[in-house]
Amino acid sequence: MSKVPPIILNNGVEMPQLGFGVWQVPDAEAETAVTTALEAGYRSIDTAAIYGNEKGTGKAIARSGVPREELFVTTKLWNSDQGYDSTLRAFDTSLSKLGLDHVDLYLIHWPMPAQGRYVDTYKAFEKLLADGRVRAIGVSNFLPDHLDHLLAETSVVPAVNQIELHPHLQQHTAREHHAELGIATEAWSPLGSGKGILEIPAIVAIAQKHGRTPAQIVLRWHLQLGNVVIPKSVTPSRIAENIDVFGFTLDTEDLAAISALNEDRRTGSDPADVNS
Ligand SMILES: NC(=O)c1ccc[n+]([C@@H]2O[C@H](COP(=O)([O-])OP(=O)(O)OC[C@H]3O[C@@H](n4cnc5c(N)ncnc54)[C@H](OP(=O)(O)O)[C@@H]3O)[C@@H](O)[C@H]2O)c1
Repeated sequence: MSKVPPIILNNGVEMPQLGFGVWQVPDAEAETAVTTALEAGYRSIDTAAIYGNEKGTGKAIARSGVPREELFVTTKLWNSDQGYDSTLRAFDTSLSKLGLDHVDLYLIHWPMPAQGRYVDTYKAFEKLLADGRVRAIGVSNFLPDHLDHLLAETSVVPAVNQIELHPHLQQHTAREHHAELGIATEAWSPLGSGKGILEIPAIVAIAQKHGRTPAQIVLRWHLQLGNVVIPKSVTPSRIAENIDVFGFTLDTEDLAAISALNEDRRTGSDPADVNS
């Protein structure tokens, strides 16, 4: 039984609201990290072709003994593979590295707007969905105008947009736009990559008030806003801590104090500028 409640995507598929991210986990360490996460109760894993750890992730899944239908596996198409035929080839490669016969969610990693290929790429995603090789399709790092253009040219509304989102970058406009379109907002770097966010005095004070850690407070804030979160850690105690966020609730005052921390400040790239 999963410890994590699901959200229902726009095509009826259930996705755990909290999962495990594996960016910057070397392939050789991914098997151990994902095994630790599965043992701690995570059922959703977020990898990507560019992370180079689909094999290690797949090994952990295979050896876990967790029934496939209880797992939710996300991977992402890398930028250099955008385009209709190249997407279908890249998907086969990802699936083979993962050792799976389908993935639960496939995302276009970055829109690369200057390249003008995300519509063709997404049409290949629609084929993968129609063929039953993915259970849901979505995008990552799409700005509102990229989403609007995609929706005008394709048939399936993305289930998810995975974007950078944390207390210093709260993404109000994007979240509202997603809600209007029925797209789930998934937060990458939900802890701000562990840099700075967890030391903010207001967050430390809320943590002390609830007898929780700053990371738990930030994750709980995301969950109460309705975001899907995928914190990454290779540290077993943190892996356990990050999923132990369902036994307390932040009050209105806590939520307001965290809302006040927004600085519209990215730690990663601006999606408008990533074109290769
Ligand atoms: N779509 C995209 O373009 C994109 C971009 C970036 C990330 N992502 C996805 O989002 C996931 C999460 O983002 P992220 O890896 O950038 O950052 P994150 O989850 O916000 O933070 C991870 C960092 O915080 C530390 N940490 C984790 N839990 C902690 C805790 N309880 N207390 C203190 N420190 C803690 C980790 O250290 P240790 O590992 O050393 O414990 C690591 O350095 C990625 O793994 C990836 O799956 C997607």
